[in-house]
Amino acid sequence: MASVTIANVWKYYGKTSAVRDLNLNCNDGEFLCVLGPSGCGKSSTLRMLAGLEHISAGDILFGERRINDIPPKDRDIAMVFENYALYPHKTVYGNIANSLRLRGMSKADIQQRVQKAARMLEIDHLLDRRPGELSGGQKQRTAIGRAIVREPRLFLFDEPIAHLDAKLRAHMRVELKLMQRDLRTTMIYVTHDQLEALSMADRVAVMHEGVLQQFGPPQEVYHRPANRWVAGFVGEPPMNFLDCDLAEEGGDLCVRHPNFTTPLLPEQAQIMQAKGGGRGVTLGIRPDEIALAAEPGLHAFSGQVMITEPLGGDLLVDVILEGSKVLVKAKPNYRGGRGEVCHLTFDRERWHLFDREDGQAYF
Ligand SMILES: Nc1ncnc2c1ncn2[C@@H]1O[C@H](COP(=O)(O)OP(=O)(O)OP(=O)(O)O)[C@@H](O)[C@H]1O
Ligand SMILES: [Mg+2]
Repeated sequence: MASVTIANVWKYYGKTSAVRDLNLNCNDGEFLCVLGPSGCGKSSTLRMLAGLEHISAGDILFGERRINDIPPKDRDIAMVFENYALYPHKTVYGNIANSLRLRGMSKADIQQRVQKAARMLEIDHLLDRRPGELSGGQKQRTAIGRAIVREPRLFLFDEPIAHLDAKLRAHMRVELKLMQRDLRTTMIYVTHDQLEALSMADRVAVMHEGVLQQFGPPQEVYHRPANRWVAGFVGEPPMNFLDCDLAEEGGDLCVRHPNFTTPLLPEQAQIMQAKGGGRGVTLGIRPDEIALAAEPGLHAFSGQVMITEPLGGDLLVDVILEGSKVLVKAKPNYRGGRGEVCHLTFDRERWHLFDREDGQAYF
């Protein structure tokens, strides 16, 4: 069993806490991504799992077994860390094959595994080079190769493809996911790149300042962010936020902003009546959940085009509202130019309201 349980885990460096009361579980064979910005405690968490860092408080279990005090070599894990320390005097082949040789595997079997990994990682033409003769991305892929040939019970990957160019990263995302599915190995994968997390993970754990913010499948994290922080971190271009309040109009509970007063959908109004009485709210809506038109329509309101940015197939439009600004992903055939009046409609099925003080999502 290679399920992993992290129970009430803390990491202190001196007096500062890098990981605060973390609770996570990863099922056997699951691909779990830990996602968050620089300094949020991702590597500290992974290093505690690997046994490279003392656990200040709490427990880590592999299956039913508490591993807090088990040395790294006895944990049956393979790691790829940020500073992929390769053996400088060994070739790429030697680096990847090393753990298999120590295990006493036959030459033919080693060759087969190394070749397979090297082909997948697109480094099969580099097997005779030494690390000093490789680029950063090639070293990184060698380190991944070294980990995957071991076929351990648990992979711990820390930003393993951060040094690759965009095209190679996209290729590696697919390959790593396929590899993990084929081997059915449990994977805990750290990244600050939300695209990686959303595209690869079965579940994503979003961290901020050492605290777990949300833990769920990618779709849930994207469509039902638990709070404003997660909503703003996940998604590109980022979600728009507008300070609003709630007001009754014509018997409907509405979201009110200087530019618009738009009714909530009935189930949303129910949530707000039950929980949100009288408090300031922040409206959150993603750029692709706003429709942009030259003519007014039902529940549409007007703004002024500030600038348009064509991005190949998409068109990003910055729209000025009273005292705020929203970014809209428009259809490429939208023709509005700078300074023109435009009409916006929010997709009310998709918008979110957050408490303005604590940032928690109402829906
Ligand atoms: N050995 C250490 N001694 C003191 N503080 C540390 C040490 N290692 C990490 N920290 C601090 O703990 C916090 C979390 O660090 P950690 O390396 O876990 O972040 P991270 O999420 O992996 O960030 P990044 O994306 O930049 O790698 C940071 O504020 C960092 O400065
Ligand atoms: Mg890190």
